[in-house]
Amino acid sequence: MATLILVLQLLILLIPPSLPQNLHPSDLTALLSIKATLTDLSPTNPFFSTWNLTAPDPCSSFAGLTCTLHRVTALSLGAPSFPLAGTLPASLSLLTNLTQLLLSPGLVTGPIPLQLAQLTNLRVLSLPSNRLTGPIPTALSALRHLHTLDLSCNQLSGSVPPTLTDLPQLKILILASNSLSGTLPKTVNSPLLHLDLKDNKIRGPLPSSLPSSLRYLSLSQNLMWGPLPNGLQLLSELAFLDLSMNRFAGPMPAQLFSLPALSNIFLQRNNLSGGLGSGLRTGPVPGSIVDLSHNSLSGELSSVLEGVESLFLNNNRFAGEVPEAYVKSVWRGSTRLLYLQHNYLTGIPLQEGVVLPDAASLCVSYNCMVPPPAVVMTCPASAGGVVTRPAAQCSVFGNTRG
Ligand SMILES: *[C@@H]1O[C@H](CO)[C@@H](O)[C@H](O)[C@H]1NC(C)=O
Ligand SMILES: *[C@@H]1O[C@H](CO)[C@@H](O)[C@H](O)[C@H]1NC(C)=O
Ligand SMILES: *[C@@H]1O[C@H](CO)[C@@H](O)[C@H](O)[C@H]1NC(C)=O
Repeated sequence: MATLILVLQLLILLIPPSLPQNLHPSDLTALLSIKATLTDLSPTNPFFSTWNLTAPDPCSSFAGLTCTLHRVTALSLGAPSFPLAGTLPASLSLLTNLTQLLLSPGLVTGPIPLQLAQLTNLRVLSLPSNRLTGPIPTALSALRHLHTLDLSCNQLSGSVPPTLTDLPQLKILILASNSLSGTLPKTVNSPLLHLDLKDNKIRGPLPSSLPSSLRYLSLSQNLMWGPLPNGLQLLSELAFLDLSMNRFAGPMPAQLFSLPALSNIFLQRNNLSGGLGSGLRTGPVPGSIVDLSHNSLSGELSSVLEGVESLFLNNNRFAGEVPEAYVKSVWRGSTRLLYLQHNYLTGIPLQEGVVLPDAASLCVSYNCMVPPPAVVMTCPASAGGVVTRPAAQCSVFGNTRG
């Protein structure tokens, strides 16, 4: 650290006296090292072309810079058509008045400098879609004012520092599409609105306590297991829930369907079991998408999911007759997609000659029934060509064909 300061002081001394006086010298030093370690990917579109370090007023002439009273307060490195490569310099930490640090998608490599933890005024730290490696520095938990942290689509490894999810101002945490492993803390205390950790290698159970402010939660495509905690049913602001493609098991917490704001429920490809909560009065809000496919759900289709706009219940162990209300909802157009293939359903009350709306997709193949006429069925290729489940499999459930 001491040597770093010495080097930086030297650098400051080396800056010719004719240099801009309207920018704090340590900020100018930081900008010099940023220009030295980050490079333009596109020679025809150089982001740094405006970064002329002998220009009289960097604050008004440099791309991506916002200043207040001679201090850099916001920095956007690169832009959509001006991607960068290279590495992030440790001397970014000299920009002590920075409240926003943004890096555009590009090919920036190397670690997230630990020294960023010294930028205690930071509210937004957004470094998505580059090639950053190494861990998320635990030291970032010193950023008490941090509101948004987006490190998605990099190559970060190690675990999510548990102190990060305790930051008192953190609202948006996006760490999706990295190689993060380890488990999540038992409780998340930050007042999060948006938590996206999808497409990582996170193991273990869901936190048993999540902030009641959450509106968006995605932990899809990880290696998480255990039951879905009752705490999920307390998230009254939740609008989007994606826990698909994990190893969650145990009963489906059907009270989820009654959450007042929840309109996107993705729980497919887990090992959830049990029924759909037949005692519930209110189902998902109009226009909802509910995907429970590829689980081990059983019992009869309950009225709670009547009228869901896109309903994927395929590849489970549902039995009994499809309720008439489900079919009416397709016929009326409130349900646009109803996938029931690969279950043990014994019948569907479709009147002969019924015409479903053109936009409707209904699939009931591979169940324990004589399938409805091909003309009313719209199955995905993954449903396979077999329209009826072999009778021997159906009798296991005590069902009769037809
Ligand atoms: C940088 O700015 C100085 C002073 O305004 C000017 O003389 C010089 O030509 C500029 N250099 C480039 C590469 O634009
Ligand atoms: C820079 O930060 C210091 C300490 O946090 C603060 O006192 C000062 O007002 C800030 N200056 C600007 C221009 O934001
Ligand atoms: C799914 O859960 C059942 C118990 O409900 C268990 O017997 C089975 O092994 C689980 N399957 C997987 C792939 O975890």
